[in-house]
Amino acid sequence: MAQDSPTILHSTEPVVSIVVPTLNEADNIDRLLEGIRTAMAGLQPYEVLIVDDASRDGTAQRALAWQDRMNVRVIERQAPPDLSGAVLDGARAARAAWVVVMDADGSHPPDRLPALLEPLLAGTHDVTIGSRHAEGGLTEGWPWQRHLTSGVATLLAWPFTEVRDPMAGFFATTRERLLDLKNQTAGYKILLELLVQGGDRIRTLEVPIHFEDRRHGQSKLGLNQQLTYLKRLAWLAGGRVSLGSASKFGLVGLAGMVVDLLLFQLMIGSGSGLGPAHVASFVVATVVNFFLNHGWTFRGQAQASMPLGQRYARFFIVAVMALMIRGGVLVLLVDVFGLSAMAAIVPAILVTAGVNYLGSAFYVFA
Ligand code: GDD
Repeated sequence: MAQDSPTILHSTEPVVSIVVPTLNEADNIDRLLEGIRTAMAGLQPYEVLIVDDASRDGTAQRALAWQDRMNVRVIERQAPPDLSGAVLDGARAARAAWVVVMDADGSHPPDRLPALLEPLLAGTHDVTIGSRHAEGGLTEGWPWQRHLTSGVATLLAWPFTEVRDPMAGFFATTRERLLDLKNQTAGYKILLELLVQGGDRIRTLEVPIHFEDRRHGQSKLGLNQQLTYLKRLAWLAGGRVSLGSASKFGLVGLAGMVVDLLLFQLMIGSGSGLGPAHVASFVVATVVNFFLNHGWTFRGQAQASMPLGQRYARFFIVAVMALMIRGGVLVLLVDVFGLSAMAAIVPAILVTAGVNYLGSAFYVFA
């Protein structure tokens, strides 16, 4: 990790380090730093750490140009680009005991910095979160696809935490707490890792924010990050998610898919509407899946102490959620992309299988 020479213009030791991971954000830097400067004026001494992953658009230079006005440092990472890795490198380099993590792209309103910091500094909370889902919070400017993927990701995190916005990239805590994270941490969801690894003792507070979609540049959240997220969820689940159980679940899923397809085809062929055919074939297939997974895939792994009724109730909740997601995927593929019902049902079933597997491993058979 290479680091530029520390600025000599600011001798006061910072109380707060604002860590900003960046990847090609040159056009957003000025607005961000201006916003932070305004929001933090008259508050605690602070530094801004721009943790850059070899941006090719001059992000680092743009940030360094602010050094005569603010306490800004740039850390240039040499490791493969990774958002969590950048945040952890920022925490390592931080001079302050309190660390705020925020995006560079203007999505996170700097004027909420005081609201995030005040409870931490007062000692009433350990982690404060700039939350889109707390009362008064909202997300502006996202296309529906982003709402859908973010909603699914949040849903998958639900068994792990009561925080309403565990996907948030705007949060504050202590440097020490961040550095205590186990080093496999990777990908986008470092807050979730912090919440899960910290356990029940962590005192959290969600501060509502108006999340605004970026004005310049592009999101770097792609399929790779989404797969990393699933792998991290598996790790956080503590082993019930494994190649063995995934393979068995896949086989069981195939059996369920055959049942599902046959019934769906039968109903569509006999004049049934898309909605009733989708719901009926789904329900029958998931009942078959449940019994096979209960007796084979997760056999011996689930805590025996859970009453059967409660396990059924949990299964029902996962199944209903998967059903809603499947309905959304079907409508999307049929109404928006113009696929036939028969072509759309296959990817819809696959998405549902993934949601069911994770729900089963984390929640039903946990
Ligand atoms: N150093 C570094 N390395 N920075 C990165 C990398 C990386 O590999 N990938 C992304 N960043 C930086 C971006 O430059 C930006 O400042 C911030 O991390 C967020 O990245 P985006 O790619 O803009 O994220 P997003 O807007 O799509 O996602 C937002 O919403 C998610 C919730 O659904 C972010 O706020 C996420 O943090 C949040 O989890």
